[in-house]
Amino acid sequence: MMRMAMRAPGLLVTLVAIGTGAAWVGPAWAADDVPRGETIAQQGNGQGAIACMSCHGAEGMGNAATGFPRLAGLPAGYLSKQLHDYREGSRQSPVMQPFAKALSEDDMRAVSAYYASLEGLDLPTAYQAADPADEAEWLAKRGDWGNVIPACNQCHGPNGQGVGEAFPPLAGQHASYLKAQLNAWRNGSRANDPNDLMKSVAERLSDEQIGLISDYYATLPERLSTASIADKKEGAQ
Ligand code: HEC
Ligand code: HEC
Repeated sequence: MMRMAMRAPGLLVTLVAIGTGAAWVGPAWAADDVPRGETIAQQGNGQGAIACMSCHGAEGMGNAATGFPRLAGLPAGYLSKQLHDYREGSRQSPVMQPFAKALSEDDMRAVSAYYASLEGLDLPTAYQAADPADEAEWLAKRGDWGNVIPACNQCHGPNGQGVGEAFPPLAGQHASYLKAQLNAWRNGSRANDPNDLMKSVAERLSDEQIGLISDYYATLPERLSTASIADKKEGAQ
């Protein structure tokens, strides 16, 4: 990440500007947000938003088979932005839009703070060269510049574990969900990304690359088993 940051300072300055709120001014959090959010997650808000856990799971880990995303440990600012985007329609989902419309500003803030407070992933951040024979790993770490596709980790952070409030983690997210999102940018049903950053990436990916990269990030925590983390630390720069 640091090496890439030095190679593309202009891009990163733009991204940092987005991350610090040029495109999205996050809400002011309140002290009782987490407990209030937990109640909404478990029981709904009594105003039309049903219990989030009925789909996103008791621990917020989602469901791979149905494509319900993991919310646990995602940044609060990102989650809150998504709920606003569903409400306003720049992100379309027949399932989530009615719930987002039923949540008040306070509810959105509380439930986002609650899911952000749950344990997320803690992957190693040491840089390790990509294996050219592994197409998915190469795309994640080096991109596919022949098709003008930057490395995913350049924005999503080392091992795709997310950066700040604007760039969500991809590692450990369900493959079915990741695939659906990349296709949503291609078909226009998700059009909520600042400066079309993700649309331009998704449009250039082939169907095969979408399949490979989604499976890669979904299985990344297992690939980085304790043993391979030790190896990588030894070889790290
Ligand atoms: C009936 C099932 C269901 C329920 C109940 C539900 N969700 Fe979802 N949620 C989904 C699905 C399906 C998606 C993916 C939609 C898409 O493709 O954009 C999703 C996506 C999301 C996302 C976007 C995640 C990301 O990584 O961008 C957020 C945030 C979210 N839900 C929050 C909530 C909250 C908060 C509640 C409770 C108030 C809730 N959901 C209740 C099914 C559900
Ligand atoms: C130039 C920066 C940038 C690059 C490069 C980039 N992304 Fe993203 N990505 C973003 C931003 C910003 C978002 C969040 C958009 C929003 O606000 O909803 C995002 C969101 C996503 C999401 C949705 C996650 C969720 O929880 O819903 C997926 C999936 C994704 N990116 C996959 C990729 C893949 C795969 C690559 C590499 C092929 C990639 N991204 C490269 C900036 C980038």
